[in-house]
Amino acid sequence: MHSVICLFGAFIAAAVFHPGSCVQTVIGLYGETIEVPCNNGNNKPDGLIFTKWKYVKDDGSPGDLLIKQALKDEATVSATDGYKSRVSIAANSSLLITQGSLADQRVFTCMVVSLTNLQEYSVEVKVYKKPSSPVIKNKAKELENGKLTQLGECVVENANPPADLIWMKNNLPLVDDGKTIIITSTITKEPVTGLSSTSSSLQYTARKEDVESKFTCTAKHVTGPNQVSEAETFPIHYPTEKVSLQVVSQSPIREGDDVILKCQADGNPPPTSFNFNIKGKKVTVTDKDVYTLTSVTRADSGVYKCSLLDNDMMESTRNVTVSFLDVSLTPTGKVLKKLGENLVVALEKNASTEAKVTWTKDNRKLDKQPEFSTLTYSDAGLYVCDVSIEGIKNTLSFELTVEGVPKITSLTKHRSNDGKHKVLMCEAEGSPKPDVQWSVNGTNDETSYVNGKATYKLTVVPSKNLTVSCQVTNKLGYDTREISVFSLFEEETKKPEKNEDGAEQAKVIVGVVVGLFLAAALVGLIYWLYIKKTRQGSWKTGEKEAGTSEESKKLEENNHKADV
Ligand SMILES: *[C@@H]1O[C@H](CO)[C@@H](O)[C@H](O)[C@H]1NC(C)=O
Ligand SMILES: *[C@@H]1O[C@H](CO)[C@@H](O)[C@H](O)[C@H]1NC(C)=O
Ligand SMILES: *[C@@H]1O[C@H](CO)[C@@H](O)[C@H](O)[C@H]1NC(C)=O
Ligand SMILES: *[C@@H]1O[C@H](CO)[C@@H](O)[C@H](O)[C@H]1NC(C)=O
Ligand SMILES: *[C@@H]1O[C@H](CO)[C@@H](O)[C@H](O)[C@H]1NC(C)=O
Repeated sequence: MHSVICLFGAFIAAAVFHPGSCVQTVIGLYGETIEVPCNNGNNKPDGLIFTKWKYVKDDGSPGDLLIKQALKDEATVSATDGYKSRVSIAANSSLLITQGSLADQRVFTCMVVSLTNLQEYSVEVKVYKKPSSPVIKNKAKELENGKLTQLGECVVENANPPADLIWMKNNLPLVDDGKTIIITSTITKEPVTGLSSTSSSLQYTARKEDVESKFTCTAKHVTGPNQVSEAETFPIHYPTEKVSLQVVSQSPIREGDDVILKCQADGNPPPTSFNFNIKGKKVTVTDKDVYTLTSVTRADSGVYKCSLLDNDMMESTRNVTVSFLDVSLTPTGKVLKKLGENLVVALEKNASTEAKVTWTKDNRKLDKQPEFSTLTYSDAGLYVCDVSIEGIKNTLSFELTVEGVPKITSLTKHRSNDGKHKVLMCEAEGSPKPDVQWSVNGTNDETSYVNGKATYKLTVVPSKNLTVSCQVTNKLGYDTREISVFSLFEEETKKPEKNEDGAEQAKVIVGVVVGLFLAAALVGLIYWLYIKKTRQGSWKTGEKEAGTSEESKKLEENNHKADV
């Protein structure tokens, strides 16, 4: 079997030669002019008399269409039925039938009569009609996960031969498996025109991920390229498998905060109403998924739940913890204590979690909470205690003042570096800061006061021996001490006073040592001379004896002087 496809201008003709019968087939298009060729154009034999087109009527009787005399220009239409106005003959003897319809699908015969011969050529005519574009109708509103659902119906109309419909998902054909995909096609014929409509219904078992799937329907037809419907998508419904309760609040939750509880379910469409279990109390919210706890207190800490209205088992649980921190400190504010007293510091705290405590004194970090069994002046200061848990911080403080009667701890004197003044230092402890009163006038008064220790300095130029007193006073009392200060002028030649310059003392010690050494040397020398004289027998020389005694006297004087 071989076939030939010929194109005739505006219409398509396919020629099929059946071996044996040799009936050619041509295809015309519905509504257009059909050309039925006569022996493929080879139909003008020598001695041609006429060409005649005829067919066999449905009832079997012969039907003449037209005759064309070879010598005449015009053909004579002999048809009396519907073909009367629709048939004509082309120059190459092809029969032309306007407004092709399915009724024209039959065999037409061309009879060529010449002086010597009579030939008949039969041609079978088929009329094709391209279908309308496929349309998806009766669409499902949504698909249910895992459940076979009627997705839609694809329809093409007015085709000949009937069109084939193919359902596609994401451009891949869906194949009926009798279980998850069922495709049912029906073809109906329009009684007047005889054209066919094809309808294909798809039952489909969707999965959650099909929410992204694009469904189309493709119509295949002999007349040409595939036609594709608009793509359709479907929401996929599936029941809730998991409920989750969320606490939509910044952590940590503190007293006074508003806490929003949000219940979420993973089903589609999402449930719109929920049951909340507020520490054992059931609360139903409709058309929303939140429950708000306003201005919570520590008493609101506890277990919260939410569940589906129609399924208590589908539930989610959360612990809500409201953080709190209660702190009290004794003492606070200004604290006034006496030197040597004790002070008990007590910090009480009650918090939702272990609180962190730090202490500072005058901005310096302390290792631990301060304890005072015997207060000293250096204990005075600003004590700050920070107590914190996550998100909450409490700061407490007390300012400690330690008071005491002034007490002089030392009163000293020394000569200034240039030797022209005497510098008196009076050191005292006491708080509040004591005032000083010297019994003499002086210059360069200097005072320092640190941690209850006061140091007063006075520079004097004494012209005579003095007894100087230092008196320190504050509102609680006073203390006095005296010191003797010798005249500067007399002192020049005098032995340095005990408490005076240390260098002076060192000089004295060096002098004594040197003196002792010299004395020892002298004794040695005298002994040596004595031995020498005894040997020479000059013992009785008074001069020499006196000299010796004088010398020793002088040395003794020197010795005495060095001792000063
Ligand atoms: C006959 O003539 C028509 C034009 O009049 C042309 O389109 C057609 O192809 C011809 N048919 C054959 C079989 O030669
Ligand atoms: C919630 O608190 C309870 C005790 O009140 C405890 O048994 C449970 O484990 C907690 N649950 C969570 C999720 O922390
Ligand atoms: C701490 O606070 C809780 C909650 O208010 C309370 O029940 C408890 O008695 C408090 N404890 C102390 C020691 O104050
Ligand atoms: C100290 O000086 C003041 C005035 O300068 C004077 O009144 C007072 O008598 C002086 N005191 C002594 C002890 O010299
Ligand atoms: C000062 O005191 C010293 C030692 O007590 C004494 O030797 C001296 O004579 C006194 N000077 C006067 C001016 O009183």
